[in-house]
Amino acid sequence: MFLEVINNQRLASDYYLLVTQSTASAQTRPGQFFHLKIGKKYSYDPLLRRPLSVHKVDRSKGRISFLYRIIGKGTKMLSFYQAGDRIDALGPLGKGFKTDFKNKQILVIGGGMGIAPLYPLVDSLLNSNQVTFLIGGNNQQDLKYFLDFPINSGVIFDAASIDGSIEFKGTVIDLWEKSYSAGFNPDFLFACGPKAMLRRVKLIAEERAIPGQVSLEERMGCGSGVCLSCVCHTNKGNQRVCKEGPVFSLQEVSLE
Ligand SMILES: Cc1cc2nc3c(=O)[nH]c(=O)nc-3n(C[C@H](O)[C@H](O)[C@H](O)COP(=O)(O)OP(=O)(O)OC[C@H]3O[C@@H](n4cnc5c(N)ncnc54)[C@H](O)[C@@H]3O)c2cc1C
Ligand code: FES
Repeated sequence: MFLEVINNQRLASDYYLLVTQSTASAQTRPGQFFHLKIGKKYSYDPLLRRPLSVHKVDRSKGRISFLYRIIGKGTKMLSFYQAGDRIDALGPLGKGFKTDFKNKQILVIGGGMGIAPLYPLVDSLLNSNQVTFLIGGNNQQDLKYFLDFPINSGVIFDAASIDGSIEFKGTVIDLWEKSYSAGFNPDFLFACGPKAMLRRVKLIAEERAIPGQVSLEERMGCGSGVCLSCVCHTNKGNQRVCKEGPVFSLQEVSLE
């Protein structure tokens, strides 16, 4: 399938928002990703596809958006795509987040680019639950897009930055600890972000017996369960991030 580029806009330093038109918008669920073939038609440079999580789905317009940061060759090349270009894509891939909750207190925690896939999740939980959405990053500049993003007024939203350039100085975990001290104890949590952050989330969730799900990033080859390059360890044995994930039970997955 192809994603047709509607807009590919630079947001801040290395951050871009890619808005595409796609027939897949109706079947795309929060937490799923697309595997993009970046580069010219018939070119195999770069050879491997690049995985990007779904950041926003607008079913009425048939649009899927991705938020990405330039890391290396693939994402740099992606930043040159313009309105009207088409991207060869596989997707939606993977299993998304569990969303069938009712009347629960739900905590959603995101760090760095791991914040991007959490927006469709927050939207889908909001109608029947109380959602607290906490995000963290290095500084205000890194978080600017997220701070400006329109959030439904029903969501309790707060942000932290390591350098203190936004009001709360510290990590998103410190921010969670602050809300815990104030009596907030969720029934379920979701997290996405750097591995070090996810390890701390898992540790604290285990101490407080909070069930949850995490979304993982691993290097991928095929993106469709064949090459086994994305395997992670769980207490059900080895599992493929592209096929059984990228969302896993926080209690079952190993983050070592
Ligand atoms: C399921 C999933 C969802 C993702 N969603 C997003 C997203 O929404 N926004 C975003 O900015 N990034 C996301 N990433 C990370 C993104 O795929 C990498 O930043 C990107 O592939 C880097 O490619 P590159 O060619 O620019 O970098 P290079 O470093 O040149 O890439 C070399 C190889 O390493 C792989 N690679 C490098 N960094 C990562 C990484 N962090 N995770 C997995 N593979 C990596 C590349 O895919 C490529 O195969 C996601 C990764 C996964 C696995
Ligand atoms: S990327 Fe090939 S099995 Fe997951």
